[in-house]
Amino acid sequence: MIVVTGATGSVGSALLKQLKEAGVAARAVTRDAKRAAVPVGVEVAEGDLTKPESLENAFSGASALFLLMTAGDVANRVDLAAVVGLARRAGVKRVVLVSSLLAQTHPDSFPGRSSLQGEQIVRDSGLAWTLLRPWEFASNVLAWAPAIRAEGIVRVLTSGLPSPAIHPADIASVAFRVLTEDGHEGAIYPLTGPQGLTPQDKVRAIGAAMGREPSFVEQDDPRALEQLARQAPDEVSAKLMIPGVCGLESPGPLSTVELLTGVPARTFQQWAHDNVNAFR
Ligand SMILES: NC(=O)c1ccc[n+]([C@@H]2O[C@H](COP(=O)([O-])OP(=O)(O)OC[C@H]3O[C@@H](n4cnc5c(N)ncnc54)[C@H](OP(=O)(O)O)[C@@H]3O)[C@@H](O)[C@H]2O)c1
Repeated sequence: MIVVTGATGSVGSALLKQLKEAGVAARAVTRDAKRAAVPVGVEVAEGDLTKPESLENAFSGASALFLLMTAGDVANRVDLAAVVGLARRAGVKRVVLVSSLLAQTHPDSFPGRSSLQGEQIVRDSGLAWTLLRPWEFASNVLAWAPAIRAEGIVRVLTSGLPSPAIHPADIASVAFRVLTEDGHEGAIYPLTGPQGLTPQDKVRAIGAAMGREPSFVEQDDPRALEQLARQAPDEVSAKLMIPGVCGLESPGPLSTVELLTGVPARTFQQWAHDNVNAFR
């Protein structure tokens, strides 16, 4: 039995679908079982990562755990050591953690350090561990969806740098391999999409999927950027808070997804096609 946290999110839902299709027993963890949409036949268990004791039923009888922390506020309130400790006592043998490539590219930044701290707890857990370090998710551009739907426009605070955003389904495909094959214990996998795209390239891809290209406006708004800088714990965090834009220099496209799954990483164009209804 594989327990999937973040089961209703972009990565977890894709992973559950893949496990279900392969006939692998899986259990979805959600804070609200009544609201959670999971594939038919997948077991659902309620649990809240910020309250480790609430996860006891979810972990019972499980052999492996897919662990996805949510970003920001929630992550800060998760006692990860308590969560993995509970998993180990429940008999879980293997854990796959979704960390972040910032642990490698920006280790001295606030989000890079937090990712490394989370990784260290999992490495010390006594479970067989594998770490996934994804770069920016393609789904971050959903931040543009309300303005595209309402006005057909994308306004960005800065045009950013080309970024090989990853389709969340590819993180799921890698997790599927790691959870269902042997030989990944102690591995750290950096994951990106196949091509660096600027925000304007991404708007074009969304436009191609919609059949109508949204306008792209780069706003020169130093006050908005200053405000983000004031709210953020550091410069890297501020650059990550720009809606839909990766303001950080990327490591460039990596081949890990293809090496691990045997098929090329999904393109941003594919992601736009898969999610076009969010923009209509
Ligand atoms: N976005 C990026 O560019 C990026 C890049 C690298 C790494 N990451 C990492 O990816 C993770 C998040 O991805 P995302 O924001 O895209 O996720 P998401 O798809 O928005 O999914 C969030 C999931 O977390 C669950 N959740 C929220 N609070 C919870 C809690 N207290 N207890 C248990 N489950 C909870 C939600 O489930 P319910 O509502 O059903 O409970 C939902 O399934 C973070 O670890 C982030 O650091 C993101």
